[in-house]
Amino acid sequence: MRILGIETSADDTGVSIIEASGSGDADIQFKILGNALLSQSELHSHYGGIYPNLAKREHGRNLVPVLMECLRQSNELIEGTRGKYETVIIEIEKLLEREHELFIYLAEFLRANGKPNVDVIAVTVGPGLEPALWVGINFARSLALAWNLPIVAVNHLEGHILIARTKNESLISIEYPALAVIVSGGHTELVLIKEPGQYSLLGQTRDDAAGEAFDKSARLIGLSYPGGPEISRLALEARGKVILRQDVAKSDFAISLPRPMIDSDDFDFSFSGLKTAVRKVVESWPTQTDELKCELAREIEDSIVDVLLAKTKRAAEEYGVKTIVVGGGVSANDHLRKKFAEEFEPHTPVLFPSREFSTDNAVMIALAGYFHAKHNEFADPLELRANGNLRLAS
Ligand code: KG4
Ligand code: ZN
Repeated sequence: MRILGIETSADDTGVSIIEASGSGDADIQFKILGNALLSQSELHSHYGGIYPNLAKREHGRNLVPVLMECLRQSNELIEGTRGKYETVIIEIEKLLEREHELFIYLAEFLRANGKPNVDVIAVTVGPGLEPALWVGINFARSLALAWNLPIVAVNHLEGHILIARTKNESLISIEYPALAVIVSGGHTELVLIKEPGQYSLLGQTRDDAAGEAFDKSARLIGLSYPGGPEISRLALEARGKVILRQDVAKSDFAISLPRPMIDSDDFDFSFSGLKTAVRKVVESWPTQTDELKCELAREIEDSIVDVLLAKTKRAAEEYGVKTIVVGGGVSANDHLRKKFAEEFEPHTPVLFPSREFSTDNAVMIALAGYFHAKHNEFADPLELRANGNLRLAS
């Protein structure tokens, strides 16, 4: 089965085509035929986070070029179908009345190109920024109409979990119960997976998500958005300079941040206090040197990873978890990967996505879409709705 995945929940516009086969929970293989992604992070960097209406506009502009790039990679850009889609284009104009720029590009695309060899369209319907999600949904509806294809609705978080379970384009078989640790720009959740597809929420953040804590802290020390990779880069420098660290620890500039809720008797998180603590540290500095910034970045990374690790460990013990699956943008973090592997391996396998697929992408959406299509869980295009707070589990 060939699935075309569409992802627009935040600031990445992604379209991919995968060819998947197999059934069950582990016997799944897939091949990535095309995978195109356009990040808007530079545009949003002025705001220190994602600006929803800007994201919506950019998705509208980018979706057709990204689709075309994906089709080109898949050898599915079929040129020369003049006149065939004129009636459908009139209907699509109504569907895209709020995304006029997207309509213009799509109409031009449909007038010039034919239907690719795909069987189903998978689109992210939540969670995420609703204005951004709607663009992807309306795009999926329009393509489904033009190409007469079914649609499946995908939960973005399920995509992150599934892609973390892949290796060499196969789904790795895991033992249950498993624990999913979802750490992204919008989410920090511990989800128990008792059996395949059976999710229950153990805890989540009460305020900022782990990725958000990286992003907001980074902004306070003048680093660009997204802050996670930037903090991680500086932290790595500080970790390499052990001697300096000892000096700093003894000096007036010793940096120590809180580990919010690390000992609380639940599986919830709270990262909003961290940025206040970071602000205080920065304000206490007479001058900002590169060394101090690196040292603070290390402490920020340590604080976030320590809390994530402690809560994961407790949940894993309490529920007798046999596998841990870490997904979402923060799972790209090297320090987190190292600490989790040291803590749990080899007795409890910890799975991480490849770095390429840690952050948002459309391959994970196509992959999750395959499962739904396989179970005939198709959506009624008219009923599709963006749900910014869509849950994986309750
Ligand atoms: O999953 P994702 O791409 O988008 C959402 O669904 O939110 O996650 C983006 C988040 C951002 O907050 C970004 O700073 C963080 O993931 N991130 C990282 C790293 N790479 C991305 N955080 C820490 N270390 C990294 N290497
Ligand atoms: Zn994500």
